[in-house]
Amino acid sequence: PKRTLLEGARAVPVPRIPVAGRRLEVLLLPVRGFAVAGGPFERTLSALSRQWSWRPGCLLRVLGVMAAEGAVVLSASDEGIADAALRLREGGLVAFPTETVYGLGANALNTQAVLKVFSTKGRPLTDPLIVHVASKSDALQVVDMEGEGRAVFDVLADKFWPGGLTVVARAQPHIPDTLSAGTGSVGVRVPAHPLALRLIREAGVPVAAPSANRFGHVSPTCAAHVMADLGASPIAVLDGDQAGVVQHTCRHGIESTVVKIDVEERELVLFRRGAISEASLRRALEVAGLSETFRVRVVQKHVPMDQSATPVAAETAVPASVVGQEAPGQLITHYAPDLPTYLATEDPEAETLARQDLEHTVVLDFGGSMVHLKPHTLGYQDLSPGGTCEEAARSLFASLRWTEEVEGADRVVIADVEQLAPQDEAALSLADRIFRAASGRRVRIQVRMA
Ligand code: TXA
Ligand code: MG
Repeated sequence: PKRTLLEGARAVPVPRIPVAGRRLEVLLLPVRGFAVAGGPFERTLSALSRQWSWRPGCLLRVLGVMAAEGAVVLSASDEGIADAALRLREGGLVAFPTETVYGLGANALNTQAVLKVFSTKGRPLTDPLIVHVASKSDALQVVDMEGEGRAVFDVLADKFWPGGLTVVARAQPHIPDTLSAGTGSVGVRVPAHPLALRLIREAGVPVAAPSANRFGHVSPTCAAHVMADLGASPIAVLDGDQAGVVQHTCRHGIESTVVKIDVEERELVLFRRGAISEASLRRALEVAGLSETFRVRVVQKHVPMDQSATPVAAETAVPASVVGQEAPGQLITHYAPDLPTYLATEDPEAETLARQDLEHTVVLDFGGSMVHLKPHTLGYQDLSPGGTCEEAARSLFASLRWTEEVEGADRVVIADVEQLAPQDEAALSLADRIFRAASGRRVRIQVRMA
């Protein structure tokens, strides 16, 4: 059979294509006079070649691999963990549960393994990975934290680890450039999930792990989500949804907060809101007497992902060239379901949704704010009937994935939690994810129905 380089393939997120009831990815492959062969592609291609025509030298659209042919699921038993640890040591990829979301892990010191993480996710090499370690002292093997920044590092590590805070700082020289995307700095965290900690300890290496979803899609909060996105890839998935550990698995439901200790500027820069609130970071610095010397700065990071994303208001948009250097990888379209998604707004200037449009709309509510619309919608879920952001964060990503399963849905409308729960400390992180899921688009539901 003729061969081509699958590494050259670029996975493009596209709407679901139901083929025999299973989800497929579409890959664009640069082809120069030969076809793709080998592995699970062969069967798919031979079936497709009867329906599709292609010519050498042009872009070839190829339907990818069906789920379950590539990935294996490992149980959270002694054997399963040992198997997963061995795979990591040997340069393989292992998805594993944390208290935030599932991560796609690789030996952080193995450049080839790190590259596989990028290609498996379809993630641009400009977006650095974070490293997971089992203790603060192991973290100090990854970041170079002597001198002034060390005091801040100690406060954050002692207060928030194990837990959902990623600390970015100057990288130790042995950290691969691929991992840090050439930034010279690296993010590190100690996760609070017992299975994650055991895996990292048994592997005996620092574990690089982005969220285990395809790039730009909704982050995974259970093993099935990982399989749905990456099941075609040769990875292992350590199942954290089993009795005994399930109570720890993704209990925050959104990713860690990412902060950078900038020693030169004496700043703690908040790049990504997440499991740890900005308010609790400020409190920790204050209690330690460091809030005067290190100020907290939140970086605006609403960068449109591509031309197809509707631009946000000019004042929230920052030129990619600037943010590209300071906050790599912060794209506005992120956590997005495969359906046009909007934030509900009362703004009379916003695009308006007519009553009949609701019949094709899936609503994700908060605290029952749109419950009166429920009978008129195609689908309705409340992220938190009791109206707490913690609960809504836990269910958000699973609910976004659920919207993709609703037959006949044209769009998703999500409640504006920032408006509905302004005094909730967790609201800003949750609102960030919802804003990105909606690519900043807003819609007004005009008709008030009794
Ligand atoms: O909760 C989490 O953080 C999960 C679990 C698996 O630990 N991981 C995760 O990784 O969300 P990822 O790669 O999806 O997101 C990490 C974020 C990205 O936005 C990346 O751009 C940023 O952290 N980041 C990583 N290293 C950085 C660096 N050196 N400078 C600035 N931002 C960095
Ligand atoms: Mg991610």
